[in-house]
Amino acid sequence: MKLQDKVALVTGAGRGLGRAIAQGLAREGARLVVCDVDAAALDETRQCLADQGASVFALRCDVADRAAVDAMFADAAQRFGTLDILVNNAARVPSSPAETERRNRHYAHATTPVPRRSLGIVSSLSDDDWLKWWDVNVDGVFWCTRAALRLMEPQRSGKIINIASVAGLGAGSMHSPGYSASKAAVISLTRTTAYDVAGANIYVNAIACGGVLTPPFQAYLDGATDTQRNSLFQMLPLGRLGTPEEYANVAVFLASDGHYLVGQVISPNGGYVI
Ligand SMILES: NC(=O)c1ccc[n+]([C@@H]2O[C@H](COP(=O)([O-])OP(=O)(O)OC[C@H]3O[C@@H](n4cnc5c(N)ncnc54)[C@H](O)[C@@H]3O)[C@@H](O)[C@H]2O)c1
Repeated sequence: MKLQDKVALVTGAGRGLGRAIAQGLAREGARLVVCDVDAAALDETRQCLADQGASVFALRCDVADRAAVDAMFADAAQRFGTLDILVNNAARVPSSPAETERRNRHYAHATTPVPRRSLGIVSSLSDDDWLKWWDVNVDGVFWCTRAALRLMEPQRSGKIINIASVAGLGAGSMHSPGYSASKAAVISLTRTTAYDVAGANIYVNAIACGGVLTPPFQAYLDGATDTQRNSLFQMLPLGRLGTPEEYANVAVFLASDGHYLVGQVISPNGGYVI
């Protein structure tokens, strides 16, 4: 019980990685504030955590809405009196038909012998495909981080974990340039914030996830051909995606005392980026 009585807030906890991280933190004794924009999914997570015996407070919140974020942190502080851990997990992730088509083109290009040519992804990107990421993936992380620090700085302790992606480290998700840029921004914000607040004993780090078997990735696999699935697994030295639990274990580690990591980007990715 490494996190006995700690209070943790996880955004985008309605399903996928966010839910697994909330469950992992709860297993170590943390009290949970969970938020999601999807009220029905959030309620399922609340029930899962309650079934685990966790103390849980579920709040519907769109992290892109600055006023709603400030209200959520005020409610959380009122309910539990403090905040020890923030996991910025909520994000828009690439899953539209156009993104799926580009993803398949990218994987085929990376794994089959084809003539070298431009994939034409950036030059044909729509305005919306560039603009749609920032409010949730970047602004949302900032609004939540700022609100959390206003609680953590006076108590001179805290852990903030930003869920980034290998997409922000290199060209591993070149099929979605806007998403990739948004995750690179999360990595940059992790580093600058970490330097800012380390003196107040607040540890800020990021997890740059590789493939996680969550609902959007499962939907991609379900819609892919055998060849497309094989192309993906061919690109992964471990030959499989990571489970949400494997990633949650890293978040629990970063949320715990006993490490010296400040402003670092840990990338569980099965060898996709070495
Ligand atoms: N699945 C992967 O392969 C993968 C890879 C790299 C990084 N990631 C990152 O992991 C995190 C979780 O991804 P996932 O695969 O579990 O996705 P997911 O779509 O299964 O879960 C995301 C959750 O965030 C919620 N959400 C979305 N917008 C929100 C908003 N504005 N306010 C509050 N909640 C909101 C959604 O309702 C959903 O419950 C994301 O930050 C994603 O970028 C995932």
